Amino acid sequence: MILVTGGTGLVGQEILRHLADAGVPMTALVRSAEGETLVRGLGAEAARGVVEDAATWQQPFTGLSGIVHAAAIVAEPVSWDRFEAVNVQGTRFAADTALEHGVPLVHISSVAVYGRRAADDEPYSITEEYHRGRIEERDYYARSKRLAEQAVFDRAAHGLQVCALRPCVVYGPGDRLLLPSLLRLARRGWLPKIGSGTVPMALVHATSVAQAALAAIRSGRGWGRAFNVTGDAPVTANDLFQAVQTVVERPVRTVPVPAGPALVLARAAEFGLRIAGPRRYPGSLQGAVRFLRGGDPYNADAAREVLGWRPTVNHRTALVEAFQAIAAREAA
Ligand SMILES: NC(=O)c1ccc[n+]([C@@H]2O[C@H](COP(=O)([O-])OP(=O)(O)OC[C@H]3O[C@@H](n4cnc5c(N)ncnc54)[C@H](OP(=O)(O)O)[C@@H]3O)[C@@H](O)[C@H]2O)c1
Repeated sequence: MILVTGGTGLVGQEILRHLADAGVPMTALVRSAEGETLVRGLGAEAARGVVEDAATWQQPFTGLSGIVHAAAIVAEPVSWDRFEAVNVQGTRFAADTALEHGVPLVHISSVAVYGRRAADDEPYSITEEYHRGRIEERDYYARSKRLAEQAVFDRAAHGLQVCALRPCVVYGPGDRLLLPSLLRLARRGWLPKIGSGTVPMALVHATSVAQAALAAIRSGRGWGRAFNVTGDAPVTANDLFQAVQTVVERPVRTVPVPAGPALVLARAAEFGLRIAGPRRYPGSLQGAVRFLRGGDPYNADAAREVLGWRPTVNHRTALVEAFQAIAAREAA
């Protein structure tokens, strides 16, 4: 039985779908009754608990054969203590549990571990050996993901079989962040077009991340290593805008914004947010600008070569399907 954390989220739901398709018994850790219903619908047993609570991990988990750890706080405006508890301590508990049971751990990490400025590097130049850039003190998400990875690899030295998957921005039908925000803006009639809109973005489908997680479990060749999970298809901002238009009834205008001034504005807005909520994560508006501007600096050759990762997503249909799913969820 594979234990999946974060199984109600964007990535975790796809992991459950893929494990179910492969006929693998699975248990999903959930923290609500709605979560239980959702994961049972995907064919998983449900176990209750939050990752930052030691008691969660003392459940028997009979027949455990591996853990896929996808639970995390991604963009909530909460304190560093909360990010540390869920993303770092929760990951330590997941790794300790895998070590105690003698089973492998697939840890869902993020390219955020490289630092946000890595997004300005040359296309496909950043491999897993990239020197890590500075992370701003208030970038709680990136800081916590870097510390979480460190925690799992510290345990590799004690015999834990672990690999860390580093997706770039993820989209899919279970998206709570990127596509819903674009949909909200599009319903107001406009979208910001930063730069030309024709440069492939650092964007990957949740199904491709799930395929990488399964490839890691099946191949068993990635233990002790990290893998970028990026570049499954060349999606541009224009592709995103065309897809969102299919679910918005009014015409959506794109408003051109040059990348340089957009970054300056984003920096100023983050500064304002820090003053307004001194101890809360302000999000990474600069990261959002760099993302929409386009440019995918991450290189996923190692995932293809070592894990045998072969993403199958058709991004044109996948984008439209994801927006349709989100619009339907919001209408329900
Ligand atoms: N989204 C991206 O663009 C992106 C990019 C790179 C890496 N990642 C990584 O991918 C992983 C999955 O992210 P996602 O996009 O799927 O996030 P998501 O859609 O926000 O889902 C987060 C999941 O974590 C669960 N969770 C949050 N706090 C928890 C806690 N204290 N205890 C137990 N479960 C908790 C949530 O449960 P509820 O349903 O109860 O809220 C949900 O299942 C994360 O490690 C994230 O860092 C995401």
